[in-house]
Amino acid sequence: MTETAGGTGSATYLDAAATAPLRPEALDAMLRVFTAGQVNASSVHSPGFRAREEVEAARARVAVALGARPGDVIFTSGGTEANSLAIVGLALATPRGRHLVTTAIEHSSVLESCRYLERVFGFELTVLPVDRDGRVAPADLRAALRPDTTLVSIGLANGEVGTVQEVPALAALAREVGAIVHTDAVQAAASLPVSVAAADAWPGNVVDAVSVASHKFGGPQGVGALIVRSGLRVEPIIHGGGQEHGARSGTENVAGVAGFAAAVGAATAQIGSAALALMESRDTLIGRILAEVPGAQLTGHPTERLPGHASFTVRGVSGESMLVALDSAGLAVSSGSACAAGKSEPSPVLLALGVSDDLAQTAVRFSLADPLPGETLERIVRVLRAEVLRGAAG
Ligand SMILES: Cc1ncc(COP(=O)(O)O)c(C=O)c1O
Repeated sequence: MTETAGGTGSATYLDAAATAPLRPEALDAMLRVFTAGQVNASSVHSPGFRAREEVEAARARVAVALGARPGDVIFTSGGTEANSLAIVGLALATPRGRHLVTTAIEHSSVLESCRYLERVFGFELTVLPVDRDGRVAPADLRAALRPDTTLVSIGLANGEVGTVQEVPALAALAREVGAIVHTDAVQAAASLPVSVAAADAWPGNVVDAVSVASHKFGGPQGVGALIVRSGLRVEPIIHGGGQEHGARSGTENVAGVAGFAAAVGAATAQIGSAALALMESRDTLIGRILAEVPGAQLTGHPTERLPGHASFTVRGVSGESMLVALDSAGLAVSSGSACAAGKSEPSPVLLALGVSDDLAQTAVRFSLADPLPGETLERIVRVLRAEVLRGAAG
């Protein structure tokens, strides 16, 4: 359990899907770079060469951990930029056609990038529906694909409801018609092998591009990567000095990529064992909440979901009051997407799953970095039950 001073104070932090706790390996790597002295990795002097070595070592480490090749990794400022670069960059670089396919539950960085291409470049966009568990039906994708489909973007796992998509099967359909396939693995890559998306044959026949973000692995915020199958052209969306082989200009974040690589290495090395322990804890939490909190319903897929992810709606209470009550009890959780936090509209993801407007306002998400201690589990159930009873009495 992460009980740190500083950012999380004395709270029990159960919001790893928003940002995972910083791993000591990442902190050490960043401190090493900062302590050595901050220099520019493009400078032509010895300190600059050493900074370049840091960047390239980080690139190699990220590539190996995610089953890619170093030359496939384009460092970005995070998941949002990786998704924007994937969608805008791949679609504009590809002369095939002007049709895009994505799903109704993608992160806003995917959906908004598609809408940007629609608005500014005249692309047509098909947004696939999902079922009540958040899964895309292969038949819907098959029906949407056209000879002029340029790009299909389907997230590997959803951050709000935890559903893991059958990306390999969906990608195979899209690639049959020659479309480029991108998957947003920002939520998934820290706990599922990205080889789920990339198959063991990267840069083989499953997906062409994968987005990841450092802070979901326990690395620093503001760093990420787009991994692109070699040979595919990417039109840059940030123009300038031509860093990252021209795909992404801007002075490299040397300490950031070093921390990112250390976190990716540490997270992916433990994927199997850590995921099993998390799944057990998640399933206990889900079982207890469904059994003991009146009105609670699981959102997302019952089994095909992220290992540490348990999300619910709780009929009869307001999501906001639940979060406040949990926070007062020292439990830092969120309603779903941190990126949408503060918005009063119901989550488009929950609406796409067929949840009503009212019920969507009662969402609560627990995302675990470590298995829950028994005392924390009891506290969660106690607080939620009390909120429901208070709601019923009021
Ligand atoms: C699925 C998914 N994609 C993309 C992002 C955006 O990543 P970043 O916060 O690094 O910009 C998030 C953030 O939560 C996410 O959950």
